[in-house]
Amino acid sequence: MTNNNMYFVANWKMYGNQSSISSINNVIKLTKDKKFRKIRIVYCPPFTLLRSFVEKTKNSKIYVGAQNCHYEIEYGPHTGFINSKMIKDSGSKFVILGHSESRREGDQDKIINKKIKSALSSNLKIIFCIGETFNEKKNNQTKFVLNKQINVGLEKIKNFKNIIVAYEPVWSIGTGIIPKINDLEKQIYDIKKIIIKFWKLKNPKIIYGGSVNPKNIAELKKISSINGFLVGGASQNSKNFIDIIKKTIN
Ligand code: 13P
Repeated sequence: MTNNNMYFVANWKMYGNQSSISSINNVIKLTKDKKFRKIRIVYCPPFTLLRSFVEKTKNSKIYVGAQNCHYEIEYGPHTGFINSKMIKDSGSKFVILGHSESRREGDQDKIINKKIKSALSSNLKIIFCIGETFNEKKNNQTKFVLNKQINVGLEKIKNFKNIIVAYEPVWSIGTGIIPKINDLEKQIYDIKKIIIKFWKLKNPKIIYGGSVNPKNIAELKKISSINGFLVGGASQNSKNFIDIIKKTIN
């Protein structure tokens, strides 16, 4: 892989507490190594750890992101939620939106579109997740589903430079199964094509997520059009996360 400007996004989901934070010490150390100076590492812990992660990573090149936000940009009576302003205020720079686990909890394309607009106006960078379910894949609906998620999710959004698209096939998340390399290459190509056509961008950033681990990374990194990886389970163990990074950048 020739592209060193790769993203490695760690999605900790609903895992982790204060005592987990020291586990990233070795990742911080890695970012001081010249060989890895161009990569971008983003940690997305649960909301409760955002501020601690910002403090912990302040002298390193690691960024921090949240895993979701409310669509309302203003403060208001929304018990149990936080908005993009609050994420920004924590010192975080990124937010994951449209993750299939958030879609499963009720986030729909139109709501995700509002969330993206809110996060952009708070000057956050967005990791916008899309992906088909197993049944949609089985019924040859992948293209249709991805098109809809992109077109509705990104409707009337102009500022694409702050958006990274994460292709995460739902059937691959947490299952240990990754797409066939040819299929994945085609999917990335199709996603880039839609974005280039509608947003007139030269080189949109697309990352892949779904069961990325130290064993399959050698296979996944063969796809030169991928701009990085969104890692769930394997990112909670620093050794595995570092392995993924080292095996990608060599
Ligand atoms: P896993 O890496 O555990 O499959 O999770 C992927 C994911 O959902 C990252 O956002």
